[in-house]
Amino acid sequence: MSQIENEKIRDANLLKKYHKSLVYDYTEYPTKGNWDQTFGSEEYKNSLKDWITRNPSKPILFYVHTPFCEQLCWFCLCSKEITQDYNKVKKYLYDYLFKEMDMLFNFLEQNNLKLNVKEIYFGGGSPTYYKNEEFEKLTDKMKKMFDFNQVGDWTVEIDPRRVDEEKLLFYKKCGVNRISFGVQDFDKKVQERINRIQPSEMLDNLLTKKIRKEYPVFNFDLLIGLPGQTTTSITNTMDKVVELKPTQLQTMMMHYKPNTRKYMINMLRDGSLPDFYDRKILYKIVDDKLIKAGYKRTGYESYALPGDPIEKSYNEKKTLYASLGSQKGEAVNFIAVGSSAHGALGDEYYSQNFYEQNLYRDKIDESKFPIYRGLKLEKNDQIRRDVVKTLRTYFEIDFQEFENKYSIDFKKYFEDSFKYLDEHSRDGLIDIDKKKLKITELGFQFSSVICHAFDDKNL
Ligand SMILES: C[S@@+](CC[C@H](N)C(=O)[O-])C[C@H]1O[C@@H](n2cnc3c(N)ncnc32)[C@H](O)[C@@H]1O
Ligand code: SF4
Repeated sequence: MSQIENEKIRDANLLKKYHKSLVYDYTEYPTKGNWDQTFGSEEYKNSLKDWITRNPSKPILFYVHTPFCEQLCWFCLCSKEITQDYNKVKKYLYDYLFKEMDMLFNFLEQNNLKLNVKEIYFGGGSPTYYKNEEFEKLTDKMKKMFDFNQVGDWTVEIDPRRVDEEKLLFYKKCGVNRISFGVQDFDKKVQERINRIQPSEMLDNLLTKKIRKEYPVFNFDLLIGLPGQTTTSITNTMDKVVELKPTQLQTMMMHYKPNTRKYMINMLRDGSLPDFYDRKILYKIVDDKLIKAGYKRTGYESYALPGDPIEKSYNEKKTLYASLGSQKGEAVNFIAVGSSAHGALGDEYYSQNFYEQNLYRDKIDESKFPIYRGLKLEKNDQIRRDVVKTLRTYFEIDFQEFENKYSIDFKKYFEDSFKYLDEHSRDGLIDIDKKKLKITELGFQFSSVICHAFDDKNL
């Protein structure tokens, strides 16, 4: 049997063995299913008061969610509604999002609290849906609420099909200084199978000299495991990516969840999705192309060019892995507004707004924070959260570091996890010695499985 065939059999067996645990991506720990649904508006207010009072100067990332898109991409797991009715978008902004922001800042003012906002992030759905007038009003609203002079990064997620050079320059004028493009894949056939036609010329036309000068830092999102992706198609896509030279890249294995997003089955109309082994080969091509082009790996799924802020933070061991991908780690405390948006205050509190827009609106109509669930983390959760995030970003744990930080005997504290990991170690997914636990090259594909061993909520 050839080496490739042997590898295929080994991987297929590993997948069979470990598949059940591949469902969590650990952008949060404890995972959202464990958050408490009795944590509502009042608990959220208490958490804000408690945490900001104790941490008045800690930097905050202010996240704004816009849950609308013009057209459905069949791979999409984001929280969004597809509509062509701009009045709906305006109503959401003016009647609900603004009211939520007012409630938040009135509450802070009444309690003499200030937000030290250092980063802003507009995600979605598609924040590019707003026309300039609404975007400007949203900017003005934020300017009244916190000190814009203190804001460093302001990121907007860009759907390349909905912007032009002029719009990107308008964003810059408002203060945006980092843009993140949803690229996914440049192959025409793949684009047809995901219902997202977006020729690479679109990016050529957007990334003009002027735009590159105004936005020295910009990101591409790429997906691996899309229908129709082949070694040839991904090679061509990556050649184009390297030519366009984004300073940062966020690659993601495409999650397939047809049980919650029925439309995802449309991607299988003309054949199956790349299987686990195919994805591994595709990912290897992506990785090789990027490393050859001079990119540095800055987390499990992230890459950056040398000198990019993420690369610097990675070298300084400050990078944080969270729902927005690998971040510089400066503002790791999220205050989030908009339907489905979730916040994190240090490693102490999580909170999340209602996904369903009607439930989100109902709460705001009652003048309550639209909180669907949240969590106050116990010490044990905090330690495990740190382990999981470190593994997902740096692929290894230095026991001594954790022992110093949390005054624990690492191996004793995680005795059950180590027992559970024995099997993973025998299968070559990890290496454990006296000082460190390291995820191996083979184990990279199973990093969430390794994290699972430290998750005492879902085991
Ligand atoms: C809100 S979208 C990006 C902004 C904009 N709506 C666009 O599509 O250009 C955020 C990102 O989530 C990622 N994403 C969406 N569905 C996914 C899935 N099924 N698995 C993994 N990542 C997914 C994609 O990489 C996507 O670019
Ligand atoms: S990928 Fe972006 S544009 Fe496509 S449906 Fe999802 S949020 Fe909307």
